[in-house]
Amino acid sequence: MTPTFEDVAVFKRIGTSTDVVRKEMYDFEDKGGRHVALRPEMTASVARAFIEHRPTLPWKAWYAGSNFRFERPQAGRYREFHQVGVEAFGSADPDLDVEVITLGWDYYRSLGIERLDLLINSLGDEQCRPAYREMLLAYLGDHRGELCDEHSERLDENPLRVLDCKKPRCAKVVAGAPTQIDHLCQPCAQHFARVRAGLEALGVEYRLSPLLVRGLDYYTRTTFEYAGLALESAQNALGGGGRYDGLVAALGGPDTPGVGFALGVERILLALEAEGRGPTRGVQLDAFVVDFVGGSEARDLCHELRRAGIRTDRAFDARSPKAQFKAADRSGARMAVVVGPDEVQSGTVGLKDLHGAGPQVEVARAEIVTEVRRRLE
Ligand code: HAM
Repeated sequence: MTPTFEDVAVFKRIGTSTDVVRKEMYDFEDKGGRHVALRPEMTASVARAFIEHRPTLPWKAWYAGSNFRFERPQAGRYREFHQVGVEAFGSADPDLDVEVITLGWDYYRSLGIERLDLLINSLGDEQCRPAYREMLLAYLGDHRGELCDEHSERLDENPLRVLDCKKPRCAKVVAGAPTQIDHLCQPCAQHFARVRAGLEALGVEYRLSPLLVRGLDYYTRTTFEYAGLALESAQNALGGGGRYDGLVAALGGPDTPGVGFALGVERILLALEAEGRGPTRGVQLDAFVVDFVGGSEARDLCHELRRAGIRTDRAFDARSPKAQFKAADRSGARMAVVVGPDEVQSGTVGLKDLHGAGPQVEVARAEIVTEVRRRLE
């Protein structure tokens, strides 16, 4: 669990030329004059925490929490959204990339998402990326006038950003651009080949996507994205990630490779809905206590049953027996536990199966937890 906000410098490592840092970060000065930001993602914070606490390697962490990005809210794009993610530090082995990518894939599948596309790419490393960057810059420079306004102005800052631009003008130029996967150095090419072989061996279908650069600058080598095909293409990224072998060192830590992903929770829910799966059913209640004698019995019985691990609820506000039975039916509970004046007198409680048609039976008050449990089993 990393903090919701921390020093802005942590997040600047995401890349000062990225939209996430330039345009979307909620940063502000606090009352002590510190420049802080609400986290726009969690990988940088996890790397910061790693440096601070130095767990033994390899270190595998997971997280779930809200993130904040200043954007125009629309379906699937929110200013506060939730991610579930994993990060693994301390190994440059391509099999770890395969493990991470497959974990995400299996997770979507276990949720019931079927229309899923996995896109993968390699962005090279500090050996081969600089030469590729020059090559790309030269190519895009020749077409500067044809790019969108933003990218013709900011081209030199980070030419890779142009590959990601959705505007038709840029897309047209990019179609003929050189790609990093055609210009990998030997170690990066070997790494990528092993990742692909691993995914194939495990039956994880993927598509090569040479233009996939992702919106964050810390990536090296493998990058990937899971696309939900049931969603509109502008907001169909259900999750993404990649390797970031230079991030820990860039944050002032020891040279430590890492790889991970983050999955967008709201997008997952949208994808499930679009595939006709809808939300998962609520918790199934076991028992509903109906009390005609003022509410104290309901209070005490609920407490006893819940402590025993039986999912129980009740009505409040001393409602009529009829209203309480109606509430019991609507709750979907398996059985009603009923207390009226007769039961109080005889030290019993009534037990009625709400799903079947059997009659209400009387059970000794002291036996109720055991009896409810027996019926549930
Ligand atoms: P990201 O691609 O920026 O990567 O975000 C991951 C996922 O979060 C997206 O695919 C999307 O599902 C969801 N998401 C992003 N922005 C929004 C938004 N405004 N509204 C709703 N959902 C959104 C990262 O954040 C990296 N930290 C992933 C990573 C982990 N790379 C390595 N380790």
